[in-house]
Amino acid sequence: MQDGQDGYVTADGRKIGGVIMEMKNITLRFGGVVAIKDISFDIREGEIRAIIGPNGAGKSSMLNVISGFYHPQEGEMIYKGSRRPPMKPYEVARQGIARTFQNIALFEGMTVLDNVMTGRLNYMKTNLAQQAMWWGKAQKEEVANREVAERIIDFLEIQSIRKTPVSRLPYGLKKRVELARALAAEPSILLLDEPMAGMNVEEKEDMSRFILDVNDEFGTTIALIEHDMGVVMDLSDRVVVMDYGKKIGDGTPDEVRSNQDVIDAYLGVAHD
Ligand SMILES: Nc1ncnc2c1ncn2[C@@H]1O[C@H](COP(=O)(O)OP(=O)(O)OP(=O)(O)O)[C@@H](O)[C@H]1O
Ligand SMILES: [Mg+2]
Repeated sequence: MQDGQDGYVTADGRKIGGVIMEMKNITLRFGGVVAIKDISFDIREGEIRAIIGPNGAGKSSMLNVISGFYHPQEGEMIYKGSRRPPMKPYEVARQGIARTFQNIALFEGMTVLDNVMTGRLNYMKTNLAQQAMWWGKAQKEEVANREVAERIIDFLEIQSIRKTPVSRLPYGLKKRVELARALAAEPSILLLDEPMAGMNVEEKEDMSRFILDVNDEFGTTIALIEHDMGVVMDLSDRVVVMDYGKKIGDGTPDEVRSNQDVIDAYLGVAHD
């Protein structure tokens, strides 16, 4: 791998661009608990970047910082070349950063299609009053948003359940619907918090394939947290390793795998 200002080319020939998100000296505390201690790393355009580490290492906290759910006490974030001021999650989403949650967060009583449509909310510019006065414009907008939602539904092969309430779906499919909703926002960066947790081998294979296809087809930059080391090593271009809030490794899967600090951190640590 050749790493430079302008990016690099992966072993499988994908072109990775310049830095899209830079985390600089991020520290996040909850009272006396330091969830993230002075961590810096970057995410490059088009990259699949993994964040790994034992339970409680601070991985979800890091994704929550990127998505604006948590605000670090120290450090800064540079997104697309500009320093990002503290922002609310919906403002971050508007800037092109979408996410899924460690615990599925869908509207259980709504259909798959309606859940995916909620991923388009940032694109719905007309409000109710405008819709009443200028029906044509609102209708055009609705049609365009629906087209995007349907395209994502086809892409993730969930056409057959588009009218099914989410509450009736098995766990693996709910995870896929959550991915569909995040993708419906057409994000520049997609954040996935344990997209394969609790899945069986076949479901994991499906999800891995979809993540690779999303990256390939839409050029979406992806940052994901995952405990399954096989999956991480197969999917990711570069890996950040956290332990007790600190960064203990950063590099290609091969570099990280042979890093002694990383090996030590994982010895004897149980994962689910
Ligand atoms: N909202 C919060 N309030 C208080 N403490 C928190 C909060 N969120 C996280 N923490 C603490 O921060 C630390 C890191 O938690 P985090 O959820 O980021 O870990 P993680 O690496 O995602 O772990 P897991 O693999 O179990 O999901 C833990 O000690 C946790 O208890
Ligand atoms: Mg977590």
